[in-house]
Amino acid sequence: MAFLRQLLLAARFALLLPLAFVLFSREKTKRAFPPSPFQFVGVQTDQFMAWTRALFRSVTSTAVNVNEGYKTFSLKHNLAFSLPSLTYGCITILPPSQLDVLNRPEADLLSHPIQMEVMQPGYLMGDPDELLFKNPIQFEVVRQHMTKDIGFFAASTADEIHHLFSEGFRFTSKQTTVGVWNFSLRIVGRVANRALLGLPLCRNETLLERSAMYASVVYFGSTIISSLPTSMRWLVGPIIGVVGRRHANFCKQIMEPLIEERLRARDKADLTEMPNDALQWMIQKSARSDPNNLKPDVIAQRILILQITSIYTTTLALSHILVNLYGSESKDDFVAGLRSECERVTAEHQGLSTKQAIDKLYRMDSTIRESLRVSPFSVIAPIRIVGSEGGIDLGEGHYLQKGARVGAPFQAIHHDDRYYTNPYKFDAFRFSRAFEGSGIGHRQHSEQELTVNVNDRFLSWGYGRHVCPGRWYISQTLKQILSYVVQKYDISLQGEREDPKSLLNFIVPPTKSQIKIKKRDHIR
Ligand code: HEM
Ligand SMILES: *[C@@H]1O[C@H](CO)[C@@H](O)[C@H](O)[C@H]1NC(C)=O
Ligand SMILES: *[C@@H]1O[C@H](CO)[C@@H](O)[C@H](O)[C@H]1NC(C)=O
Repeated sequence: MAFLRQLLLAARFALLLPLAFVLFSREKTKRAFPPSPFQFVGVQTDQFMAWTRALFRSVTSTAVNVNEGYKTFSLKHNLAFSLPSLTYGCITILPPSQLDVLNRPEADLLSHPIQMEVMQPGYLMGDPDELLFKNPIQFEVVRQHMTKDIGFFAASTADEIHHLFSEGFRFTSKQTTVGVWNFSLRIVGRVANRALLGLPLCRNETLLERSAMYASVVYFGSTIISSLPTSMRWLVGPIIGVVGRRHANFCKQIMEPLIEERLRARDKADLTEMPNDALQWMIQKSARSDPNNLKPDVIAQRILILQITSIYTTTLALSHILVNLYGSESKDDFVAGLRSECERVTAEHQGLSTKQAIDKLYRMDSTIRESLRVSPFSVIAPIRIVGSEGGIDLGEGHYLQKGARVGAPFQAIHHDDRYYTNPYKFDAFRFSRAFEGSGIGHRQHSEQELTVNVNDRFLSWGYGRHVCPGRWYISQTLKQILSYVVQKYDISLQGEREDPKSLLNFIVPPTKSQIKIKKRDHIR
C-alpha cells in the first residue's frame, strides 16, 4: 500500500515536472510580489532563469544569504534587503533598528496567512475554513491561564518529572546512552500534557508518541505544501493530509472519552472541584461561543494544536540546552555552578517545587536564555505580510507595498557581536554573572535579563503582537527539568557536537546527538 502510494506520487511528479517549473517561475518569482525597493541577496542576475534557480538554491542557502545581507546592508547602512525563498517567495529582511515595524496593528501587518501556511488547517486539520484559527480559543486559554501567574503548575510539573525519571527512565549508576531528541521529547511530552490534559492521560505513551508524529507531519508537511505554488498544492496536500489526519484521529480517539466525561460533568460539578488544566479551561471558554465549539472532535483538535505548538518548540529548546551545556568546554564549571545554586535555593525554600523557589534560580535561568540565544530555531522569524493599503514607510523613500512579506533576521541578531561578545560561544552564565558576589544581588530580580524577557536582541519568543504567551510557563518548566537533571545525574555528550545546518528557513535540530547519562552516587 505504502509503496503503491509512493509510486503514484512519483508518477505525478514525473509528469508534472516541466509544468511545475513554469508554475514555480510564475508564482514564486519576484514578479508575483510587490516590487521591493531594496537590494536583493542570493540572485545571480547574469544567470539564465536567475530567479528560479535562486529559489531552488534557497533550500540550502537561506542562512548564508541572510547573513550576507545582514553584514552588507543592515550593519553597514542600517538598511533592509530582500531575498528569494522557496517557502515565502520574496521576502524583505528588516534591520534591527526597524523591528518596531512588527508592532504595527494586525490590519497593517498580517500574521494569520503565515500561520495558515505553517498549520495548513485545510489539509492537515480538516478545517478548510480556518475556523480553529479565526476563533483561536486554544490560544486564548494560554493567554488567560498560563501567563505570569504560573505558580499553580510548579508542584504538578515537579511530580511529573520525578515520576518519569523514577518509573519511566529508571537510569542507574551504570551509564546509559540516549538520543538527546528522544530523551527531550519524552520529558516534554509528559510535562506539557500534564498541563494540557492532566492525569492520567498525560502518561499514555501511545497518545504522546502519536501526537509527536502528528506534530512532525504538520511542521514538515506544511513546509512542503507551502513551498509549492498554490496551483500544485492539491497534488501533494491530500497525501500529506491523509498521513497527518490518521495520527490526529488516533489521538482524538484516545482523548475523546475524557472530553465527553468532562462535558457531562460540566453542568453538575461545582467550581472548586474542577480540574485545573487547559482542557477544562478550553471547555469553559468554548461553552461561551458557537455550540459547534463544544463538539468533542473540535475540542480534541484544539488540544492537538496546543500540543504541536508547545511540544515541538520545547523539545527543540531542551535538546539544545543539553547539547550546549554538556558539550561546552566549560561544562564542569557550569554544572558545578548550577548544582551549588540548586542546593542553596533548595535549602532556603525546602525544595524546588514552588514558583518562589524556581524564581531564585538565576544561573539556571541564564543557562536557558543563553541556549535559546546561541541556538535560534530558524534563520528568519517572525514573518508577516503587509496588509495596509498604503503600505509601510521604512523611511528615506522606501515603501513596502501591500502584500510584501517581511521578516526579522533572528539568527543574525542572536549572533551579532555588537549585542553579545563572543556571540558563537555558549556562555551559560552570560546573563547572571554580573550579579555574582557584587553586592547587587538584590537587584538581580529586576535587572537580570531573564529567559522570558523579549527585546530587539532576543527573538526566541517572537517579537511584536504575537509574542509567545506560553513563555512564563515554559521557562519555569525548563528550569525545573534542568535542575532535576543537573542535580541527580552525571551526563556527558557522546562524540563531537553536530554543527548546526540549515534547510530552507529551518535550523536543523540536533536529532543525531546522544548523551551518556548515569545516576550520581550519593543522590537517592
Ligand atoms: C521553548 C518553547 C517555546 C518557544 C521557543 C516558543 C516560541 C514561540 C514563538 C516564536 C511564537 C510566535 C510566533 C509568531 O510570532 O509567528 C509563539 C507563539 C505562541 N506560543 Fe510559544 N513557544 C514555546 C512554548 C510554548 C508553550 C509551552 C505554549 C503553550 C503552553 C506556547 C503557546 C504559544 C501560543 C498560544 C502562541 C500563539 C500566540 C499568538 O499567535 O498570538 N508556546 N511561541
Ligand atoms: C530515537 O528513537 C527512535 C525510535 O524509537 C530510534 O529509531 C532512533 O534511533 C533514536 N535516536 C537516537 C539518536 O537514539
Ligand atoms: C492509552 O489510552 C487508550 C484509550 O484510553 C487505551 O486504550 C490505551 O491502552 C492507553 N495506552 C497506554 C500505553 O496507556
